[in-house]
Amino acid sequence: GSGSADGARGLRFTPVAPNTADQVTVPAGYAQNVVIRWGEPILRGAPAFNADKQTAAAQAGQFGYNNDFLSLLPLREHGRQVLVANHEYTDEVLMFKGYDAANPTREQVEIAWAAHGLSVVVVQEERRSGKLTPVSRHYLNRRLTATSVFRLTGPAAGSDLLKTSADPTGTKVLGTLNNCAGGTTPWGTTLHGEENFNQYFANGTSATDKRYGLGTGATERKWERFDKRFDAAQEPNESHRFGWVVELDPYDPDSTPRKRTALGRFKHEAAQPRLTRDGRPVVYMGDDERFDYFYKFVSSKRMKKGNSRSAREHNLTLLDEGTLYVAKLTGDSPAAEIDGTGKLPNDGEFDGSGVWIPLATGDVSHVEGMTAEEVYVFTRLAGDKVGATKMDRPEDVEPSPRTGRVYVALTNNTDRGKAGKAGADEANPRNLNKHGQILELAEHWDDPSADGFAWRLFLVAGDPEDPATYFAGYPKETVSPISCPDNVAFDPHGNLWISTDGAQLGSHDGLFGVATLGERRGELKQFLTVPKGAETCGPIIQDRRVIVAVQHPGEIDGATVEKPASVWPDGPGRIVRPSVVAVYRKDGRDIGV
Ligand code: FEO
Ligand code: CA
Ligand code: CA
Ligand code: CA
Repeated sequence: GSGSADGARGLRFTPVAPNTADQVTVPAGYAQNVVIRWGEPILRGAPAFNADKQTAAAQAGQFGYNNDFLSLLPLREHGRQVLVANHEYTDEVLMFKGYDAANPTREQVEIAWAAHGLSVVVVQEERRSGKLTPVSRHYLNRRLTATSVFRLTGPAAGSDLLKTSADPTGTKVLGTLNNCAGGTTPWGTTLHGEENFNQYFANGTSATDKRYGLGTGATERKWERFDKRFDAAQEPNESHRFGWVVELDPYDPDSTPRKRTALGRFKHEAAQPRLTRDGRPVVYMGDDERFDYFYKFVSSKRMKKGNSRSAREHNLTLLDEGTLYVAKLTGDSPAAEIDGTGKLPNDGEFDGSGVWIPLATGDVSHVEGMTAEEVYVFTRLAGDKVGATKMDRPEDVEPSPRTGRVYVALTNNTDRGKAGKAGADEANPRNLNKHGQILELAEHWDDPSADGFAWRLFLVAGDPEDPATYFAGYPKETVSPISCPDNVAFDPHGNLWISTDGAQLGSHDGLFGVATLGERRGELKQFLTVPKGAETCGPIIQDRRVIVAVQHPGEIDGATVEKPASVWPDGPGRIVRPSVVAVYRKDGRDIGV
């Protein structure tokens, strides 16, 4: 792909038309294979999947449910890579025959605990095709679940706010929950956002519980009946131990994954690092809630290069020391020109400037009336106090490897402009925003640690025939319709790839590619669609292969195991299974060209 080195050539596949087929639909000339399904054994001793004989012990050695974020890391074994996957949540009605939501059994609950978390599984590529298959029982393969041991590190570790009756040290947590998107670090670890953790905790009482969305009664899954730590009335601090960014070292199967308190606690969608010129990591992070904030963390330590033990040990401390910031954005057009309809202001762009407001550095709080520990554990309240910009659900974020510009998916916000809620502003320009937008952020002097930035909306999503849409100024006659951008990724050529969740345009969700530079900037094309009820997650775009996580296929109101809405991936009579899919060109050439 040398001719497309600057991403200017765009993407040359024939777009997939919007559709509602119960399959993964790919462009002409492309093939696909299911890499791994929910329940496939990955650990030594794990049994083959049997939908009618599920056990917690089996699930703990099998690939988890609802794959979301994916990372692929290099491995010094021929044709092999390490796949790391998030398992965001469980859909019990689609997992268990005859599931009684009012009375789940202990076994069902323990299977759900084991189906959450993370998987590490080595994958093998088939020679002369893009096909990928799992290498079961590889020594690096690993499952981390809702009951595995995690360590809290950084400035809030050991805080009274993080102590429970089971853990008086405030440093040792059982489990990770609701891992949505994530990131891959330049030092060979993976980051995993703990997103909607609130849903697992019953009987929230405090003002901070309310700000974080804990319910005041029983939870939907009723886990509090089987472990009192899920009952906030009995263990008020247990929920404080979720909502963090987890760092995992997939190359060390004995390592304890860390929850990095320096990165703050909120509904972490994702966490994507880039390095400053002097080698310090900067991590961009969204809090996926209507009217919540966009953050970054700037480490005070430099990454050490190389794979020596001492370099790896040093690099595993990079995310424990630094400064946490929240974003405040200001538009450059008169407020009167932002009327909430999505009509472009007179200068022709939704754009402006922004500042990064520091919240805490190590043990020092920059927020009046809050200690540093409070800033880290109740980061949303710190953002409220300093007047951060209320965004339209910040989801995934990705810096361009070519330009350093940072792309932020703002998925939608149907409450924007409602009575008592914030109205449109230049960065969030549509009231009752169903389709979302993508923001492009340029740090001052392209320095990731800068305290200010410029921004513009790259994409205002929707049906291109809707005048309230914008595709970076590209003529809209030929672009694909898109709604609810969620995950974003770059290919090696600098094209941005966008996956969607919640499409509102009559088509299933899918994956799209778009050039961000040159004369084809904004020429958005749909690359694939996913089965009924599914969301497209975790896209990884390599030279010759696209990998997507098909999350929650068949998740339609009223659907059950007995009455499925989808029969993907194995056809009628087989249980629907969230799975990872690889897509590649039949002729073996590069993707997209
Ligand atoms: Fe789990 Fe914000 O999507
Ligand atoms: Ca403007
Ligand atoms: Ca997401
Ligand atoms: Ca989403």
